[in-house]
Amino acid sequence: MIGIPVGILGTGKYVPERVLTNHDLEQMVDTNDEWIRTRTGMSERRIVSPEQASSDLAYEASKIALEKAGITADQLDLIVVATITPDMAFPSTSCILQEKLGARRAAAFDLSAACSGFIYGLANAANFIATGTYKYALVVGAECLSKITDYTDRNTCILFGDGAGAVVLGAVPEGRGFRSFELGADGSGGELLKIEGGGSRLPSSQQSLEEKRHYIQMAGSEVFKFAVRIMGSAAEEALRKAGIEKSEIDLLVPHQANIRIIQASLNRLELPEDKCMINLDKYGNVSAASIPIALAEADEQGRLQEGDCVVLVGFGGGLTWGASVLIW
Ligand code: ACO
Repeated sequence: MIGIPVGILGTGKYVPERVLTNHDLEQMVDTNDEWIRTRTGMSERRIVSPEQASSDLAYEASKIALEKAGITADQLDLIVVATITPDMAFPSTSCILQEKLGARRAAAFDLSAACSGFIYGLANAANFIATGTYKYALVVGAECLSKITDYTDRNTCILFGDGAGAVVLGAVPEGRGFRSFELGADGSGGELLKIEGGGSRLPSSQQSLEEKRHYIQMAGSEVFKFAVRIMGSAAEEALRKAGIEKSEIDLLVPHQANIRIIQASLNRLELPEDKCMINLDKYGNVSAASIPIALAEADEQGRLQEGDCVVLVGFGGGLTWGASVLIW
């Protein structure tokens, strides 16, 4: 990256208390624990209570990230929330979060890039800081996927969970921080992963609700093939831009969509599993929140040491993808 070196000053995560296990799902759809574990790597996921929305999860994660960064909310210049489950169409979840935090000086916007949203958000915010426009930015991935999941569809309902992860970005010493970003999109694959209802194409109506158009629809195996291809190539491109070799990676923090997708990425990057953050067994796929939750958990577990080379990589609806290389 060009300009002032920018890095992560603090991380935070929040997951709701309620646990939905594979055995619970066996009672809801025609599936079984063994199939889910072997085909996805997932055992349980967290689910919000009916009154919780994405901004509530974002707020909890953000408080921790701010505390770890050693700054207060009123020092924030920018808040970016990546989500496909905003509290409402507008105002944005980032504006609702700004008010909850009391971050009165901060500009705020939401970003829609599905599961790649957090990396898109990092790239945006980091550039504001690198150019000297802003000093501190909060980037959050927050999702209540349980609220857009059809719990009668076994193809999707086994995959998703709820939660939020947040980071505070700011200037760091020379030699540390973000080295590169690789972002991409392929709108021709938009049909593979979508929610049709509730937008301007198909506004909410009795009929759209009856037809379940407000739930996630996914062509699982096509998305799987795309993910296997793009996770490796996006990470390699980010490494090439950073001038860093695969062998120098200390920790890979991938989007937590499926253990088989993660294993394919590890094979391509020639990395052993102990150099990868994996927590999809506990939380499932939390879309834009997956990577920041995994990053915050790696931080909590002491797996991020100063000078470590960390690679973030994700893919999602759009289709979209993103990768970043940073020195911790
Ligand atoms: N339990 C039992 N059997 C099931 C289940 C289930 N929950 N789901 C599907 N099956 C069956 C299918 O019906 C099929 O049966 P059939 O052969 O009789 O037709 C069989 O299992 C195999 O189905 P596949 O879809 O081929 O299974 P696959 O190995 O591809 O795994 C999965 C499915 C887990 C969905 C996988 O394709 C995947 O992970 N895809 C990527 C999903 C993803 O990452 N999406 C990103 C979404 S994030 C976002 O943007 C919100």
